[in-house]
Amino acid sequence: MQQYLELLNQAKEILQRNTITVTVNGKLYERIIPSKDFYVHQWLWDSAGVAMGLVHLHEEAAFNELLSLIVGQWNNGLIPHIIYNPGESKYYPPAEQWQTVGFTRDGIKTSGITDPPLLAIAAEYICDHASDEQKRRDFINTFLPSIMAYHDHLKCYRDPEDCGLLTIVHPWESGTDDSPRWDSLLNRIDLNMIPPDIKADVDLNRKDIKYQSSEERPTRADYYRYIYLINLFKDLAWDYTKILHETPFAVKDILFNSIWERANEALAALLQRYGNQEEANKYQRWAEQTQEALTNTWSEEYKQYCDIDVTQGRHQAIAVPTNGIFMPLYAGAVTDHQLDMLLHRLSNADEFYTGYPVPSTAINSRYFDKERYWRGPTWPITNYFIIEGLKTYRGRHHHADQLANLFMQKTIQMIRANGFWEYFDPLDDGTDDNAKGRGFSSFSWTAAIFIQLIKKTQHSK
Ligand code: DGY
Repeated sequence: MQQYLELLNQAKEILQRNTITVTVNGKLYERIIPSKDFYVHQWLWDSAGVAMGLVHLHEEAAFNELLSLIVGQWNNGLIPHIIYNPGESKYYPPAEQWQTVGFTRDGIKTSGITDPPLLAIAAEYICDHASDEQKRRDFINTFLPSIMAYHDHLKCYRDPEDCGLLTIVHPWESGTDDSPRWDSLLNRIDLNMIPPDIKADVDLNRKDIKYQSSEERPTRADYYRYIYLINLFKDLAWDYTKILHETPFAVKDILFNSIWERANEALAALLQRYGNQEEANKYQRWAEQTQEALTNTWSEEYKQYCDIDVTQGRHQAIAVPTNGIFMPLYAGAVTDHQLDMLLHRLSNADEFYTGYPVPSTAINSRYFDKERYWRGPTWPITNYFIIEGLKTYRGRHHHADQLANLFMQKTIQMIRANGFWEYFDPLDDGTDDNAKGRGFSSFSWTAAIFIQLIKKTQHSK
């Protein structure tokens, strides 16, 4: 612990520096933004992740982080992936691009899509780690109705067929924007049919590559398609029944659904403790249904779980070797045979066992790109879920526990050697002098995960 004091202080300072105070309709909110350079608003899964680290420093701030996020909830229950902060212009696309005012409460500006639904998991985590009973109860009273409405909204509009797996409609909803998992779907959107004004808008106004190397970000074609999809949904007046029907991008994403499974378990546990048993049973049933559906996405041919392309009536497995294939560990959806295969792939130096594991795409895949966003770099975020997932299986396989501890040490080491970056070059292990951090620096979620991992190493002693 002593050896990490300096770094823990740095993590704490990053969270402090990235805290901003905003007034929305006369009310004051404190929020932690992901980074001061580009991500200057509040993101759903970032905020949820940050709250989990923050509870170890400042309980009230952790509760407030989640409460300040749900003020962006729509009347229909959707919690959007971005809650825009007024007066900030560093991010593209701007709030106006979504045309969602009228759906939100109190005129708060938001995006119109969601993020991996990490909120209930974060709420359970901070309730477990907070010591002030009164604050915990106050938080729960406000938070539980919102989170139930959010889960009900997702189940209703994203799983109308009641198969246990939610459908995402935009790569940004996956949290892994330019993952090669999405290439085959996005390539169906012919660039020639994207209206010239969308392309001109992207070319003129895109901000990320002004602050950072374009080699580390999604491509221009990706952005044309991202904005094309937003425009399409806007034209459908954010009617999700129509959107699911018409979008050229509709996927049962295994990462998103693994979090959905765990989130329903968390919500059921919170309701058991603080709410209604019947409601708890409902979310527990949803969790079990998703768990089984995830297990069934396994392909024996590819030795992996597969996302399912469900665009316009399709039902086609997407078998790309990314770190998403390990996410069903986090959902407890893994059979003994599947566990053996996953552990083998995680330990294979030709695939996922790199200098800084776990790369977002297997290094022997033709899609691997060590610099570009979700096409190769290692992310502390996904490492956290993989570590937690492996821990779930420690009683079943000793190697699961060994790997969890190893990845925990390596993630700590990666951050210690390079700093609190958004993502990292997966091929190196800090033995040369080149900085291996990629993306934006002083990244809030990386700081929060560092705090959580250090706490974990303490408890495992
Ligand atoms: C971005 O703008 O890079 C985000 O990932 C979208 O949520």
